Amino acid sequence: MVRLPCPLLLLLPLLRVSAATPEPCQIDDEDVRCVCNFTHPQPDWSSALQCMAAVEVEIRGGGRSLEEFLLKSASANPKQYADMLKALRLRRLTVGAARSPAQILALVLHALGFSRLKELTLEDLEVTGQVPPPLQETPGLALTTFRLRNVSWATGGAWLGELQQWLQPSLKVLKVAQASSLAFPCAQLRAFPALTTLDLSDNPGLGERGLTAALCPRKFPALEDLALRNAGMETPSGVCAALAGAGVQPHRLDLSHNSLRATAAGARECVWPAALSSLNLSFAELEQVPKGLPPKLTVLDLSCNKLNRAPRPEELPAVDDLTLEGNPYMDPEALQHQEDPMASGVVPPCARSALTMGVSGTLALLQGARGFA
Ligand SMILES: *[C@@H]1O[C@H](CO)[C@@H](O)[C@H](O)[C@H]1NC(C)=O
Ligand SMILES: *[C@@H]1O[C@H](CO)[C@@H](O)[C@H](O)[C@H]1NC(C)=O
Ligand SMILES: *[C@@H]1O[C@H](CO)[C@@H](O)[C@H](O)[C@H]1NC(C)=O
Repeated sequence: MVRLPCPLLLLLPLLRVSAATPEPCQIDDEDVRCVCNFTHPQPDWSSALQCMAAVEVEIRGGGRSLEEFLLKSASANPKQYADMLKALRLRRLTVGAARSPAQILALVLHALGFSRLKELTLEDLEVTGQVPPPLQETPGLALTTFRLRNVSWATGGAWLGELQQWLQPSLKVLKVAQASSLAFPCAQLRAFPALTTLDLSDNPGLGERGLTAALCPRKFPALEDLALRNAGMETPSGVCAALAGAGVQPHRLDLSHNSLRATAAGARECVWPAALSSLNLSFAELEQVPKGLPPKLTVLDLSCNKLNRAPRPEELPAVDDLTLEGNPYMDPEALQHQEDPMASGVVPPCARSALTMGVSGTLALLQGARGFA
């Protein structure tokens, strides 16, 4: 049996090297980026050793279940490798395409707590069971950026509170896309004192009610950027109400790529955060400027909507930097391009972004097709 210091290899103490399997890990010539894709039924786990020199590591489990490592990892204590973990150059780690018992995830987080990892991404992961709280001796991950995409949790919205216990309060950026639950039980959540960016984009089922449940009052005191692209938002005033309810004060709000309505039936006047200076309403299918916008903004992006006439001054907030490109009244072909980006050989600005969304949609489908082995 070989003992290895690489945090993920701690979980895999039994290394079987089979000559027939292709090399699952590849490191680039500069020793910066290492990518592992363990799709083979009996992969050569030791291939991951070469990633020890890398700054950026990406590990995909080919959709396998990590259940089999549960017993083998029971006696693993990452603390005994603390010095070696600290010496790793690893700063960015992506782990994905696996089904993992929560204890295994906790062991990885424990090990990574000794490293100098800054950015962690979890992708296409199904976590079973409840993530146990850390032991006393765990320093906690000093992450600046934490991204989760398509991660499902057995414990519903409690996942954020469970993971937070493993983190130092240094987190600046939290991005959660395709989430299974964003309804956080607020009482179990501590504040994120350094968090400036919260990105809940690509959660089309979220909606304004979901946003209200996600934005726990007083937990995001430093928030500056709130991104809600493609998040099922319906009206700017509904979003305003959710922000007011949570008392969050973002400086920049991105509501692009939502299908927004210009007026909310029976909406009450809502007071926008005083700090809000930038509002992005592009790609929002707006046929007119929505009511209830903040009275004053530095930046307002209304590009790539369906405005059929120039907005009247009284419809707009006082704004320094207004973008109206890609609306049909300015460019009669814009609408056609938004609906059919391939229609002509020339790619106008709105079509390009719609096209990018289309491409990422295709990627999501391809990833979806990968499934569990
Ligand atoms: C991993 O390997 C599988 C099969 O070889 C392939 O379909 C998949 O695209 C790979 N994933 C990545 C992220 O390279
Ligand atoms: C608004 O959002 C769109 C699409 O998400 C993006 O392309 C554009 O750069 C954003 N505008 C500003 C001012 O940030
Ligand atoms: C989401 O992750 C699961 C694994 O937990 C996977 O089976 C599914 O295909 C992923 N979906 C997408 C859209 O990538």
